[in-house]
Amino acid sequence: MFRAISNNLAFFRQFRQRFETTGAIAPSSRFLAKSMTRFLAARGSDPVRVLEIGPGTGPVTQRVIPLLKDGDRFDIVELNESFVEILNTRFQQDKAWQKAAPLSEVHQLPIQEFQPDQKYDFVISGLPLNNFPADLVESIADTYFKLLKPDGVLSYFEYMYVRPVRKVVTRGDEKVRITRIDDIMQGHCDRHRIQRDNVWVNIPPAWVQHLAGGRETRQDDGVES
Ligand SMILES: C[S@@+](CC[C@H](N)C(=O)[O-])C[C@H]1O[C@@H](n2cnc3c(N)ncnc32)[C@H](O)[C@@H]1O
Repeated sequence: MFRAISNNLAFFRQFRQRFETTGAIAPSSRFLAKSMTRFLAARGSDPVRVLEIGPGTGPVTQRVIPLLKDGDRFDIVELNESFVEILNTRFQQDKAWQKAAPLSEVHQLPIQEFQPDQKYDFVISGLPLNNFPADLVESIADTYFKLLKPDGVLSYFEYMYVRPVRKVVTRGDEKVRITRIDDIMQGHCDRHRIQRDNVWVNIPPAWVQHLAGGRETRQDDGVES
């Protein structure tokens, strides 16, 4: 309880100081975290490699940790040093996190610069893409697929209706930016989407997109949670 309050305060402070990269006023709800990890939860017994991008204070990380098994690898990439400190403290102090510590590593750098030596079975991203320049979104989306195995799953969330509404209400450069981001991400969804979850219990409500690594897919839209 105390940790939840302190994490919410830390998150809100970063939202005020670094709105563009933090991108939300509060950490994700457990419902959103559950949806983000639904494919990892359905894993088999073979060892897997998991990458979480933009964990913030760790609501999704918390959900990943109990799903890990011996032999797995869990890499976490976070830009903001305040969040990195919170995550490292949890790996030292929290019992469940301590168990996963030998398999896990927190890397402080932007995802565009992360160069692991192997690809991942699961890439789980909380990046606020709608806040970024369109060129950056294009390069981050390419990075997601470069880091994902052909039979791996990418899961990311976006706040509901932000792009459709902004496309209508904005003008000039902002309209061009948001329209391009929409085209980029919609293109990836059209080619690779496995499923979209609607998560209403979150501030704000969110869509979770689940995309397949290499293959083109048929879509299963709008699973509620
Ligand atoms: C919307 S918050 C999501 C936090 C957390 N996943 C959650 O669901 O509550 C976005 C996070 O992405 C991080 N971030 C933003 N740009 C990044 C980048 N280029 N590389 C890695 N992390 C980044 C921010 O510092 C922040 O922690």
